[in-house]
Amino acid sequence: MGSIYRTILKRRTIRKFKPRRIPYSILKKLANAGHLAPSAANLQPLEYFVVDKTKQLETVFPHLRWANYIAPYGTPPLDNRPVAYIAILVNKKREIADYSAYDVGLATENIILAAWEQGIGICIIKAMDKEKLEVIFSLPKYLRLDSILALGYRAENPKTEPLKKSVKYWKDSRGRLHVPKRALSDVLHHNRINFSGLKPGVCSKLILSGQAPSIPFRVRFGGRERIK
Ligand SMILES: Cc1cc2nc3c(=O)[nH]c(=O)nc-3n(C[C@H](O)[C@H](O)[C@H](O)COP(=O)(O)O)c2cc1C
Repeated sequence: MGSIYRTILKRRTIRKFKPRRIPYSILKKLANAGHLAPSAANLQPLEYFVVDKTKQLETVFPHLRWANYIAPYGTPPLDNRPVAYIAILVNKKREIADYSAYDVGLATENIILAAWEQGIGICIIKAMDKEKLEVIFSLPKYLRLDSILALGYRAENPKTEPLKKSVKYWKDSRGRLHVPKRALSDVLHHNRINFSGLKPGVCSKLILSGQAPSIPFRVRFGGRERIK
């Protein structure tokens, strides 16, 4: 496997950034990486609003929500705030029902991987005050704000670890972020369904505490547990 695969293995969400400007020429290339991603029916509904002016960066920051599981410890400190944002906009005149979310996901990952190779880390932000930000960006009615990518040269090095009980990422006493990931053997099915991903407790506990409502619930089925 080549360098893209190695980047995929190393990539983590970054929420601490160096106080160093990203040249606009690079930001433009990152927008282009998003722009050239696959697009349903090739409609290309996405547009990219790049912010790198200090004043505007300051205006946007208070409307973003960071790392809900560990709040407020995932919010970038003053000296480690994003030095640029790429807001992903959807042109409503060009979108077809339900498909633009796929376009956004694909464009976002293109941008994240291209950025990582430049030493730039990204945090996808969906938890934000969308109405306020649409006003701040003076968006015309035909454009809607989908998400914001917060960017900067990486100033943290999160660690991937095997998921044991909880999907919640956490910080250790030195402030390093740990990100639990399910084992590949739990999510990979080769020619037949493999039930090893159904470890007791993980999903149901989260659902009960209201933290992961979208995780499918488990049912007992013929002595084995299955995802319904
Ligand atoms: C659709 C989506 C929305 C997200 N929204 C936020 C957000 O609002 N704030 C935040 O701090 N992180 C956000 N994240 C980042 C996730 O918390 C992160 O991807 C997850 O913890 C896994 O970590 P990893 O990206 O390092 O694998 C979002 C990620 C995705 C895919």
